[in-house]
Amino acid sequence: MKILVVGSGGREHAMVWKLAQSSRTPTLYCAPGNAGIESLATCVSVKADDVAGLKAFVQSEKIDLTVVGPEAPLALGIVDEFRKSKLKIFGPTKGAARIEASKVFSKEIMGRANILTAAAQSFDQIKPALSYAALHELPVVVKADGLAQGKGVMVATTREEAMQAVRDSMEHAVFGQAGQRVLIERFLDGEELTIMAFTDGRTVVPMLPAQDHKRVGDGDTGPNTGGMGAYCPAPLGTKALREQVTRQVLYPAVEALSRMGCPFQGVLYAGLMVVKGTPYVLEFNARMGDPETQVVLPLLKTDLLEVLEAVVEHRLDQLTVDWHDETAVCVVMTSGGYPGVYQTGRVIRGLPATTDATAMVFHAGTRRMGTEVVTAGGRVLGITGRGKTLGDAQAEAYRVTKSIAFEGAHYRTDIAHRAFSRHT
Ligand code: AMP
Ligand code: GLY
Repeated sequence: MKILVVGSGGREHAMVWKLAQSSRTPTLYCAPGNAGIESLATCVSVKADDVAGLKAFVQSEKIDLTVVGPEAPLALGIVDEFRKSKLKIFGPTKGAARIEASKVFSKEIMGRANILTAAAQSFDQIKPALSYAALHELPVVVKADGLAQGKGVMVATTREEAMQAVRDSMEHAVFGQAGQRVLIERFLDGEELTIMAFTDGRTVVPMLPAQDHKRVGDGDTGPNTGGMGAYCPAPLGTKALREQVTRQVLYPAVEALSRMGCPFQGVLYAGLMVVKGTPYVLEFNARMGDPETQVVLPLLKTDLLEVLEAVVEHRLDQLTVDWHDETAVCVVMTSGGYPGVYQTGRVIRGLPATTDATAMVFHAGTRRMGTEVVTAGGRVLGITGRGKTLGDAQAEAYRVTKSIAFEGAHYRTDIAHRAFSRHT
């Protein structure tokens, strides 16, 4: 069986790594992949958002199943395009992926499905947006409607900041078309949690809860990033909370999408803010999270290929998905300066030749240059440690992280800190 994974980050490395363990021993391809994925899959130099190029490759290579990692090809309609030609693909259609690609659409779904979320107003015109922002209680959250690589959200603590965020988005178009419409939202004060679920449009199978670390610095300080690390399972996501989210968030969202004529198949990601024990949805994503995937998939006991096929073939109700009773912690190593300006092309030293049972080095922004592997992005590596306890997993992740070096490397030293402060 031939499988193509679309994407080039740590999430896709983790997906390829998990699929490589399938008892069905599939032949793996990745487009475009990276220097780490190369050891497990044939990397194909087609960009993740080149839908026509990907389709041509899949047809010529007779790929049996395509699995989409990032949101961009989903929002472009890769699933619709593949289905037109009867090509098997894992992920939601363009219509269903709007739950991530448009925050206004996402709020509409939540409204129809009675899902708890922060109160918000959307604006197409700058004047009323500015007036509303000027009067809103503080802090207030200003969000670009469309896809902005995780950068389209501003938590403003002053009126000036709030109005500047509206101007940046609508007048200065810092997020391009994505920011021409904005959402102005109430600030929720709580703790964040990610619950992702596999769904075939009818059955929902939640994964273990994870927590991402969005800020660049220790103690959750500094600017937001694509994610500096994650851990799983997050103790905040108790069994009772997971059941509540499945019942009150995931099923209602999937059912609302079906009723609207755009059934969702793939991974639905709920980004939650837990306020005094009550989960509110901050955002939905239409795919697996990065770096959450790097801690969730290592704990999946069931063959990932079996799960993906059950989703694509609408028979998830017949599958039992099992998890290892362990923990995982992922530490992301970034290029110095990220999420601002950073250098690439730095030689990475100390990379382990193989992954072992308790530590995996997932590549994100890496490239092969001759015999060396060099940095090629802001987030460079995600090192996942596994263990019986969170402490063991964290120690394992940092043991391996400390053995890897490149000029300007940065990583947080406190990944999973919230879980530990919870215990004391
Ligand atoms: P989003 O892309 O909507 O998940 O927003 C990115 C980040 O902004 C979230 O992970 C939160 O840290 C923060 N955020 C978004 N919406 C809110 C809100 N209503 N209240 C507090 N923080 C928020
Ligand atoms: N970790 C957040 C995301 O994947 O959007």
